[in-house]
Amino acid sequence: MQEHLTGAKSFSGTLRVPGDKSISHRALMFGAMARGQSAVRGLASGLDVRSTAECLRALGVEIKAAGPETVLIRGAGPKGLREPGSVLDAGNSGTTMRLLSGILAGQPFQTTITGDKYLRQRPMRRIIEPLESMGAQVLSAGGGFPPLSIRGGSLTGINYRLPVASAQVKSCVLLAGLYARGRTTVIETVASRDHTERMLPLFGVEVKREGLAASVEGGAALVAVDLEVPGDPSSAAFFAAAAALVPGGEVRLEGLCLNPTRAAFYDLLEAMGAKLEKENQRTQAGEPVADLIVRHSPLKAAQVDRTVLPSLIDEVPVLAVLATQAEGLTRILDAGELRLKETDRIAAIAGNLTRMGARVREMAEGLEIEGPCTLKASSLDSFGDHRIAMAMSVAALAAEGETVIENSGCAEISFPGFYPTLRKLAGLYQTA
Ligand code: S3P
Repeated sequence: MQEHLTGAKSFSGTLRVPGDKSISHRALMFGAMARGQSAVRGLASGLDVRSTAECLRALGVEIKAAGPETVLIRGAGPKGLREPGSVLDAGNSGTTMRLLSGILAGQPFQTTITGDKYLRQRPMRRIIEPLESMGAQVLSAGGGFPPLSIRGGSLTGINYRLPVASAQVKSCVLLAGLYARGRTTVIETVASRDHTERMLPLFGVEVKREGLAASVEGGAALVAVDLEVPGDPSSAAFFAAAAALVPGGEVRLEGLCLNPTRAAFYDLLEAMGAKLEKENQRTQAGEPVADLIVRHSPLKAAQVDRTVLPSLIDEVPVLAVLATQAEGLTRILDAGELRLKETDRIAAIAGNLTRMGARVREMAEGLEIEGPCTLKASSLDSFGDHRIAMAMSVAALAAEGETVIENSGCAEISFPGFYPTLRKLAGLYQTA
């Protein structure tokens, strides 16, 4: 698939973005582990979350739609998951594979889990090591890549200091810890998204948190709950960025999750000069939520390092686009993890923005971008990565002429209907 986009003269509107992807994966998984029926409203409908639902169905969990964006999950209870008849497919989703592996490590049967050609290139040693030290046996391809074959059961709790700032690894270990003997503690060096720690208590499981450490006791029994997933700040970031970039731009993003471990992009956007306003602040599914208004204003450069990176890890592609239009040198440092995402995001951002005429320096673990510059319309590639496709679509709105995004269909992974929504707010018509 290809998407053709021209520069935008305006960008305005009100939008409710899809339910948060990270929270949706967890709601499905915890609902599957719980005793009783959970109802989840506002579940993300992208392909990644569908992969999680399919894997859980293959493990014997009943998940059915009950109206638009609402699902009912009949939980299996602590010992109710069943050995699947075939290999589980996590599709493109690292969260599905890494979190589910923690649950599978606690099951008294063997499961094999694989994914698409992109996921099969992503490192899994980071979860294999802690799961093996808890007592699971994990076979992998090529020394730590999917498919993973996990023989679980008889786990013992561990104290684990995370070698990489990763909410997926943290959550994987904590979920395995729920099936282990004794206590499991995970200690981070920088806070990563804490949806697991916030949601488990909604399902009746105590999570002890002290500074950067989180602990669970083994043998915990989850109890079904009804919850509504707040809007995804990572999906909303593309619209916030477009409003900030296009002169006169203004967007109202309703029901957004503004958990501090996810919101660093918005803090930075404000520090860069965009005008932000929060309304209707509330708590939903244990998460801080608000309606957020973002207005255009001239932007200045931003600095990112390891202290904030985990809280805006998925927003770096669109932040880089903003940096091309901001006055001064934007530095994104300590970002080596971006090379291990759905594609090598550092290379993909640098390659695409350079084609558009931006001044970008690619570094081993980051990017430097000198702004502002005039972006010229080009032919760009998503490299099959949804966030690259969407970030480059925002860049297209700031360029003169018609930009073509190759491999644009991957936006469906996290944001079905992204392009029609973007076009509508930008006042653009379909040209191809
Ligand atoms: C996620 C954690 C992050 C993020 C991903 C979702 C999660 O990955 O990039 O999109 O739901 O826990 P890492 O844990 O690899 O940083």
